[in-house]
Amino acid sequence: MEKRPNIYLPEIARIVEVRDETPDTKTFVFRFRDDQFHDSFAWRPGQFVELSVFGLGEAPFGFASSPTRKESFDITIRAVGALTRALHAMGTGDEVGIRGPLGNHFPFDDVQGRNILFIGGGIGLPPLRSLIHNMLDERDKFGEITILYGARTPTDLVYKEELKEWEQRSDVKFIVTVDRSEPGWEGNVGLVPMLFSKADIKPDGTTAYICGPPVMIRFVIQDLVSMGFAEENIISTLERHMKCGVGKCNHCCIGHKYVCRDGPVFSYKQMKGLLE
Ligand SMILES: Cc1cc2nc3c(=O)[nH]c(=O)nc-3n(C[C@H](O)[C@H](O)[C@H](O)COP(=O)(O)OP(=O)(O)OC[C@H]3O[C@@H](n4cnc5c(N)ncnc54)[C@H](O)[C@@H]3O)c2cc1C
Ligand code: FES
Repeated sequence: MEKRPNIYLPEIARIVEVRDETPDTKTFVFRFRDDQFHDSFAWRPGQFVELSVFGLGEAPFGFASSPTRKESFDITIRAVGALTRALHAMGTGDEVGIRGPLGNHFPFDDVQGRNILFIGGGIGLPPLRSLIHNMLDERDKFGEITILYGARTPTDLVYKEELKEWEQRSDVKFIVTVDRSEPGWEGNVGLVPMLFSKADIKPDGTTAYICGPPVMIRFVIQDLVSMGFAEENIISTLERHMKCGVGKCNHCCIGHKYVCRDGPVFSYKQMKGLLE
């Protein structure tokens, strides 16, 4: 009989780099200690892992880099509690446990040839960055790519250097805004939905991907629907407290669905049915 992988058993991964993003957010670059395991590790944007800090416990985190860049993978983490603070105290060479990849992924093959609209808020940009890199690495498969991003203040913007590169690319439309300005900021000030009037969006041929705080997601979806987007072309993620990550413990149920196993990615059409 073929041996099935143990879904509860973490694999050891080593931190190979840590990048400061904002005062409370860092990007950790990981590589599995076992090279053979690392080379066979396959995942898609939108999926997540259960990451364990030994002696403390585990928590779910989404991939922030593209599977087309195989040497390592990034996870961007905001320090909010015991586990994430312990991670922030770690550095290059330190080791964690990783179970995954878990969950479903963002539609990719089905949207080839369509225009793509990304709408990210705050720490919601990292999972979208995974898909953005993936699509930019296969740029000729997609139509226009528009990225709208908002954060509380200029200090809270993640991937600051990379945002400048996106701004300069001729094959990407990138517009950023902040809720509150700071000295030296000359860009947009206002909530993410105000960027819609600045981006020439064509609801008919476009699929929208949203990730951010729940209140932002709610208002953005309302606007997209009123612009004429079909409910199946609005894709977002749902966040729930999770434990097992594999559909066994019932921690993440919404109706008859497990967010960890059937999600975390849902279209608005699916989401509406669940939340009603
Ligand atoms: C599928 C998925 C992907 C995620 N991806 C990322 C990511 O890429 N980067 C990142 O920084 N965080 C991500 N999170 C959130 C992350 O799992 C929590 O921040 C983490 O569990 C906090 O652990 P802690 O022990 O440090 O904090 P705790 O002490 O457990 O919690 C601190 C605070 O955060 C709240 N909190 C904890 N977990 C969640 C949750 N799942 N949803 C909403 N609020 C929560 C608690 O209610 C509390 O107020 C993701 C969550 C899910 C479900
Ligand atoms: S986290 Fe256990 S069922 Fe989803």
